[in-house]
Amino acid sequence: MSDTILTFAPLNFNMVQIDQIVLPDFPLLLAPMEDVSDPPFRVVCKENGADLMYTEFISSEGLVKDTEKCRRRLAIFGEERPVGVQIFGGDEDKLAMAARIVDMTQPDLLDINFGCPIKGIVNRGAGSGVLKNIDLMVRLTEACVKATHLPVTVKTRLGWDEDSKNIEEVAERLQDVGIKALAIHGRTRCQLYKGQADWELIGKVKNNPRIKIPIFGNGDIDSPQKALEYKNRYGIDGIMIGRAAIGYPWIFREVRHYINTGELLAGPNLAERVAACKLQLSKSIEWRGAQMGVFAMRKHMTTYLKGLPEFQEFRKRLVSSVVHEEIEQVLDEIMVAYSGFEFENKPIELVNYHENCAL
Ligand SMILES: Cc1cc2nc3c(=O)[nH]c(=O)nc-3n(C[C@H](O)[C@H](O)[C@H](O)COP(=O)(O)O)c2cc1C
Repeated sequence: MSDTILTFAPLNFNMVQIDQIVLPDFPLLLAPMEDVSDPPFRVVCKENGADLMYTEFISSEGLVKDTEKCRRRLAIFGEERPVGVQIFGGDEDKLAMAARIVDMTQPDLLDINFGCPIKGIVNRGAGSGVLKNIDLMVRLTEACVKATHLPVTVKTRLGWDEDSKNIEEVAERLQDVGIKALAIHGRTRCQLYKGQADWELIGKVKNNPRIKIPIFGNGDIDSPQKALEYKNRYGIDGIMIGRAAIGYPWIFREVRHYINTGELLAGPNLAERVAACKLQLSKSIEWRGAQMGVFAMRKHMTTYLKGLPEFQEFRKRLVSSVVHEEIEQVLDEIMVAYSGFEFENKPIELVNYHENCAL
């Protein structure tokens, strides 16, 4: 008889699975955000602990018409995976056709946006507009599920307004037509970004015994402490973070560390901030081209380095150069000039986007 001792790798029963995509226990998702969650930014978020990310939303009509803007948004760097492509639209045929186009570009999943509150989109029966018509929402979802081999997920809100919070019914019906995960922003369409996100109802959806798919909570997570508190209180499968990551992609590793250890991780030091600038800059140039790549990075670099005293001269040089190597040189000089500088740990402020969006 062999005296080999059999050893088994410990199984992690808390892994979260979206179809074939296996995510760690309590995954941290980067929310889809137009003009923010582009490929260069996603790479930096991935480096800092985001477990699943999404593209900016893409119009199904634009994809079908093959516009430059929509085609560009399909781009994914290999190192960001798993990544979902998010689409929106209110027409079943066009949405299904868009799903087939997305399928050909081989992301990891397809996400449908049923949460966007912008009037122009809502009025076309897309985004959160479908929250007023669940039958249409179900038909649109089913059309996508049938059109693609990719796992289909949905991101939506609690309902249209305070009197029509229908997310519990929505979750069951979308699960029944085959979605593999649901992300819920704890506001109604009519709230836009006002008030506090209501996670009670998100927790209720998660704790419905009929619901088998992962439920991700979204809305107002701005600190590791809040993330852990909501994890424990609402029992959701993971959280999606949006605005807190804007200018602060380190939020993911800070949340993960706090969940794992109960201790707060120190904020990023100068070397880490400069490294994020360099990484995002090089990815931005790779994705957009030399000049546009540099232009797009200017605001990010100054945000990542915010807090450095008497920074005007360096700032001027960072935002006036169009040459990659020159900017890298300035970043290296900043490293030397501020060596040993300690950034203040300030609470993250969440901006009220779409404040002036007409209802
Ligand atoms: C600038 C910006 C752009 C956004 N674009 C999208 C989008 O393209 N698709 C989407 O589903 N949600 C979009 N959202 C909503 C976010 O994904 C998220 O649901 C919302 O910001 C609430 O999460 P937070 O409190 O963590 O920011 C956007 C939000 C912001 C602030």
